[in-house]
Amino acid sequence: MKIARFSRVGFILAAAGSAVGLGNIWKFPYIAGEYGGGAFVLVYLLTVLLIGFSIMIAEMLIGYLGRKDTVTSFEELAPSHKEKWKFAGFQGLAGLFIMIFYSVVIGWIFNYIVTSITSLPATVKEAETTFSAMLHTDALTQIFYHTTAFIWITYVLTKGIKGGIEKMNFFLMPALMLILGGMFLYATTLDTFSQAVTFMFAPDWSKINSNAFVVAVGHAFFTLSLGMGAIMTYSASMEKDSSLVKNAFWVVFLDTTIAIVAGLMLFTFLYEYGSGPAQGPGLVFISLPAAFYELGTLGNLFAVMFFVALAFAGLTSSVSLVEPMVQYFIDRFGWSRLKASIAMGTFFWFFGLFAIFSNIDGYKEFLTWGGKSFFDWVDYVTAAIMLPLGGLVMAVFVGFVMEKERVETLMRPQLKWAFDAWYFSLRYITPVAMFIVILSLLGIL
Ligand code: PHE
Repeated sequence: MKIARFSRVGFILAAAGSAVGLGNIWKFPYIAGEYGGGAFVLVYLLTVLLIGFSIMIAEMLIGYLGRKDTVTSFEELAPSHKEKWKFAGFQGLAGLFIMIFYSVVIGWIFNYIVTSITSLPATVKEAETTFSAMLHTDALTQIFYHTTAFIWITYVLTKGIKGGIEKMNFFLMPALMLILGGMFLYATTLDTFSQAVTFMFAPDWSKINSNAFVVAVGHAFFTLSLGMGAIMTYSASMEKDSSLVKNAFWVVFLDTTIAIVAGLMLFTFLYEYGSGPAQGPGLVFISLPAAFYELGTLGNLFAVMFFVALAFAGLTSSVSLVEPMVQYFIDRFGWSRLKASIAMGTFFWFFGLFAIFSNIDGYKEFLTWGGKSFFDWVDYVTAAIMLPLGGLVMAVFVGFVMEKERVETLMRPQLKWAFDAWYFSLRYITPVAMFIVILSLLGIL
C-alpha cells in the first residue's frame, strides 16, 4: 500500500494548524492580561525559544524516524527495553482528553458566530449575562454545537492525511491568517494601538512570580502542541529528506506571530472600546463582543469574522489532537480509518457531554470535585501535567536513550554548530525546567 505523505507546504500548514489554536487566540491574550503583559510575554517568548523549539525538533525526529503511530515509534527507536518505552507513546491519549473540553469550547464559538450576525451585547454586563446563561443553563445549545464540532472533526479524520487533514489546513489556515491580518491592520489605525503595544512588550517585573513562570512554560507547550504526540504523528508522514529544523522553525514562527498579532489586535479593541486587558477566560466571549458593539454593523461583521477565525484555529488543532490515537488503532489493531475515526470521535463526544453538564446548574454538583468541575479537571490534568510530562519523556528519550550517533547523523548536518546547544538543552535545560513545572503545579514547590 502506498503511504500518503504530506507535501512540504502541506506539512508546515498542518503542523502550524495544530499549533495555532484556541491557545493562541483565546488563552494567550487573557493569561498575558492576567499576568501583567510584557514581563510575562518575555518569559513565554524565552521559553518558546529555549525549550519549545528544541522539543519541537525532538518530537519531529521521533516521528520522522519512527514513521508509525506514537507507540510503535517509541518502541522501534528505543535501543533496549522496548516493551517499557512503548508506553511513552500513550501520551497520545492526552489529545483525546483535551478534546473533551476543546470540542465544547469550539461549540461555544459556533454559537457565537451565529448569534453575532444579528446581535451583540450593548454592555459588558449584558455580555456576561448572555455567556453565563449559555454556560450554566443552556445544555441543549451546547450539546448541539459540540455535536456539530464532533461531526466536522470526525469527518475530516475519516478522509485521512492527504484528503482530509492536509486539504482542510490548506484552506482554513490561509483564511485564518487573512482574517486576523485584516483585523490587525484595522487595529493599527486606531489611537489605542500604541497602548496595546506597550502593554504587551513593556515588562513590569513586579507582576512576574514563580506562578507566572509556570504558566508561561505550560502555555508554551500547549500552544506549540508539544508533549502529546500530535507533531510526532504528523511527522511520521513528512516527506523524505525534509529539514526538521526548517519545519520546526516555521511552525514556531507562525504560532508565535499569530499569538502576538491576535493579542495586539484584541487589546487594541479592548482599550479603544471596552474595558482594558485583564479579563480572564471570558475575554473573547464577554469583553470583546461588547467592544464590537460600539462599532455598529461593522462590529457585527468583525465579531463574525473573528469567531470564524477562532473556529478555524480550533478545528485544525482538533484533528491533530485526535489523529495520534486514530493512527494508533490503524497501525496496531489494523482498524480501518473510518472505524478508528468514529470510535475516537465518539469517545470525546461522549465525555464532552459530561464536560457540558459539569457547568450546568442542577447537575454541576455531581460533577465537581475539590472545587473544580469535570471541565476544569480535564483542562488542568492535561495542560498542567500530561503535556509537560510528555515533553520531559521526549527530551530524555532523544537526549539519553536513543543512540547519540543516530541522532547526530541526522541532526548535525541540519543544525550545524547549534547541534551541541540543542542536545544540551534536551539533556539538561528542558528536563530541569519540566521537573520544576510539574512539581509546582502539583503544589509541591
Ligand atoms: N496548540 C493548540 C492550541 O494552541 C492545542 C493543542 C495542544 C493541539 C496539543 C494539539 C496538541 O490551541
